[in-house]
Amino acid sequence: MKKVLVKNIGMLATPEGRSARRGAEQGTVRTRKDAWVLIEDGVIAAVGTGAAPDAPETVDACGNLVTPGLVDAHTHLVFGGWRQNELGLKLHGASYLDIQNAGGGIQSTTNATRGASERELADKAARALDEMLAFGTTTCEAKSGYGLATEHELKELRVIRDLNERHPIDLVATFMGAHLVPAEYRNDRAAYVRLVCEEMLPLVEEQGVAEFCDVFCEADTFTAEESRKILEAGLRHGLRPKIHADEIEAIGGSVLAGELGAISAEHLIVCPDEGIASMARGGTIACLLPATSFNLGAAFAPARAMVNAGVPVAMATDFNPGSCPCLNMQFVINLGCLKYKLTPEEVLTAVTLNGAAAIDRAGTIGTVEPGKLGDLVIWDAPDLDYICYRVGSNLARTVIKQGVVVR
Ligand code: NIG
Ligand code: FE
Repeated sequence: MKKVLVKNIGMLATPEGRSARRGAEQGTVRTRKDAWVLIEDGVIAAVGTGAAPDAPETVDACGNLVTPGLVDAHTHLVFGGWRQNELGLKLHGASYLDIQNAGGGIQSTTNATRGASERELADKAARALDEMLAFGTTTCEAKSGYGLATEHELKELRVIRDLNERHPIDLVATFMGAHLVPAEYRNDRAAYVRLVCEEMLPLVEEQGVAEFCDVFCEADTFTAEESRKILEAGLRHGLRPKIHADEIEAIGGSVLAGELGAISAEHLIVCPDEGIASMARGGTIACLLPATSFNLGAAFAPARAMVNAGVPVAMATDFNPGSCPCLNMQFVINLGCLKYKLTPEEVLTAVTLNGAAAIDRAGTIGTVEPGKLGDLVIWDAPDLDYICYRVGSNLARTVIKQGVVVR
């Protein structure tokens, strides 16, 4: 058995439990001073304070803050090319949907992704994962959605599966064939929805390459009715629903999320009260993406209203080449406090346990408790307030994945 002791922890801060935390519980974080964590074969065996047990291998936290590894529950990790050309368009007043409707946006990334080999996509995504790990992310969700054709959607999902094998970060795959109606179906949307439901989803199920099905429910993208059709088909093929909802216009996505009992709804920038109520009824987690609001110059989601309504709030990067080319969860933490006005404790829960719950991993990661994976970050920081308050530096000092120092 491989035993590793993380010792000399000045402050250990972690939410507790094996399910999403909502309401006042979102802000309840256990802190311990002068703590240690014993990891056996990659799994946390014991957590304590004061005198530590002996172990053949030790990692000295040098009196610093330790938290669970960060969980990035929403990324579009696998794509060809970048879209830096859109910055100039945006500076001259074009909106996200203007650029998309002119053939830029998701369609242009789709063209680049279709032209890339599996190897090229994997090497590029692996570099992004290296960077994420350096910022403290130990598990991340990754969506397809830049293939928009059966062979290319499956190609992206295979890349995610292979990266999960070869990279220390654990990956969780989401099928998002309904990211955009691709150019070749522009005059027959219904045919594309049928392709997703009748051809792509059965193959995704057969090949076992995704756990969730996501849809971009948005003006000029997929209507709420189309989204329902696709997510219900996903359910029939064993994929739990997620939904990009209320990012730019509220066209019913958050209400639908609650009605379907979706595991999470994402963005929710302009989420109406009825959407919040529906998510609370349906047990849906709000997966908020503040770096996207920042990057789009948009408003920030009504996080406080969600916490007050008993909707668990998670936060993630939304890393993608268009609306959010950011893979730094520490920036998300900053924005959670500064823009959502969540407390450091609420934010920590959002980026660990609630993120884990949004990808159905709350039983195995997201907290520092016996039985969970030994995924930890040792910070260059004395306490939780400090990592929320410092902006623009990388404060992750050591990253531990399943008991192994990986950074
Ligand atoms: O979550 N909104 C839809 N999908 C991504 C953006 C994708 C892109 O712009 O390439 C998002 O923001
Ligand atoms: Fe997204």
